[in-house]
Order: sequence, then structure tokens, then C-alpha cells
Amino acid sequence: MRKKIIAGNWKMNKTVADALALANGIKGELSGCGCCSCSCPEVVVCPPFTALKTVGDALAGSKVQLGCQNMSSEDDGAYTGEISHTMLRELGVQYVILGHSERREYYKETDFWVNKKVKKALEKNLRPIVCVGEKLADREAGNTEKVVEEQVRGSLAGITAEQFENVVVAYEPVWAIGTGKTATSEQAQEVHAFIRGIIRDMVGEKAAQGLRIQYGGSMKASNAKELLAQPDIDGGLIGGAALEVRSFIDIVKAAV
Ligand code: 13P
Repeated sequence: MRKKIIAGNWKMNKTVADALALANGIKGELSGCGCCSCSCPEVVVCPPFTALKTVGDALAGSKVQLGCQNMSSEDDGAYTGEISHTMLRELGVQYVILGHSERREYYKETDFWVNKKVKKALEKNLRPIVCVGEKLADREAGNTEKVVEEQVRGSLAGITAEQFENVVVAYEPVWAIGTGKTATSEQAQEVHAFIRGIIRDMVGEKAAQGLRIQYGGSMKASNAKELLAQPDIDGGLIGGAALEVRSFIDIVKAAV
């Protein structure tokens, strides 16, 4: 049984004060359940870098885990504007979103760079949430599988079956991100099963069965239950609905 994982990607939103209020709100809502072996999902929040320290301190000892939205592929040195694994680990970060479509699109991150970062994260005991997903034009041209396969194989090249235990993949169809258009549960399930099949081919059945694959793209409380009921959908990577306590918690509850 794969434990579901619900992660909030706050993107470039929230001042430190607003981030703290949101983190405390989420923590408060989840404080009733102190267990880790129940059917509750794993919950992760990924604030902007500027709020990591404050949010990390606020969440210390709670069941809400800390993630971030990017990481350098290098250890340290002359890389202006970059943030290293050491700096992130120091703040209590456990998960790192890598290869988000916004980074691929606006900052030209390629599979090569995503792969370098994934390898570095795993080597340094950070758990990557590796994002893949097709654009609308790809889907309309019938290229969804081709594009997703290329991203999965490219971003996860050279990762061993053992390392896959610490990897999460997020399938985020680009046309569904922030648009209010969600993939139907059938569309999402189809791609999730396809991704699992690629992983099976890459590193074997056991690692493929253990891998958690999140869906992302306009997930909200009203569609979460149906999406999360699909056999290969193991969680959600939430954007807009993660920016408020109520809408995020309602998705977490839909995953129980
Ligand atoms: P939305 O939930 O706002 O569509 O964003 C999804 C996303 O990009 C999460 O990484």
C-alpha cells in the first residue's frame, strides 16, 4: 500500500508573515492526528525560499513536512542566485520540487538539468518531487505519451531502484495548471499507469509499485476524492488551492 502524499506548492506567493499564518493554520488543523501509521496522507508544504526558515521553525515537531520549489545541482561556490542542498537541509527541508513546468517553460530547465538536480538531491538525502506533464498542443497532437516518456526517462535517468524509494513523481498536465481545467480522473489515471509502466521498465516491478505518483493541475476539494480514488494516483501537488488553510485541508481530508 502506497501512503498518499499531498503537497502544497505555494509558488511565488506569501510574505513571511502570511506564510507563517498559513503554516500555523494547516498545522493546527492537523494536530488532532499524531499517528504515522494510519490512513492519513503525508502532508508537505513548499513555501518560497524566503519563508522556509520561519515556516520550518513553526512546523518543527508537527506532522507537516517542509519542502521547497527548486535547488541547485551544485554543492556551493560561484552560482549567483542559487540555493544549495546544504542550505536547504539546514532549514529542515525534506522534499524538493524539481522540474516544475513553470521552471521548464520560463527558465528553460531541461531534463538534463532536472536529472542533475534529482541525483544531487538523492545523494544529499533530500526527496525530489519530479514534475512531468504535456502541454495542450502535445495532447491535441496525440503526443502526450511521447512527451511524458521523454521527460520521465530524461529526468530520472541513472536513478537506482533503491533510490526510487525516496522519489515522488508528479504528473502535472500543463494545460490543467492554474486554468481551472482538471484532467478527468480517467485521463489522469491513464497517464499515471503509463508512467508506472516506464518506471517498471527502467528499474523493475518492486520500485514501480512503491513509487508514489501525484496528480497536479487545478486539484481542489471537489475533484480530489475522485482523482485520489484512482489506482495509480497517490496524492496531489496543489497550487492555488494550497494557498488557503480551508481549501488545502479539504484536499488532505479527501485523501484519508
Ligand atoms: P494549480 O493547483 O494552481 O493548478 O497548480 C498546480 C501546480 O502547478 C502545482 O505544482
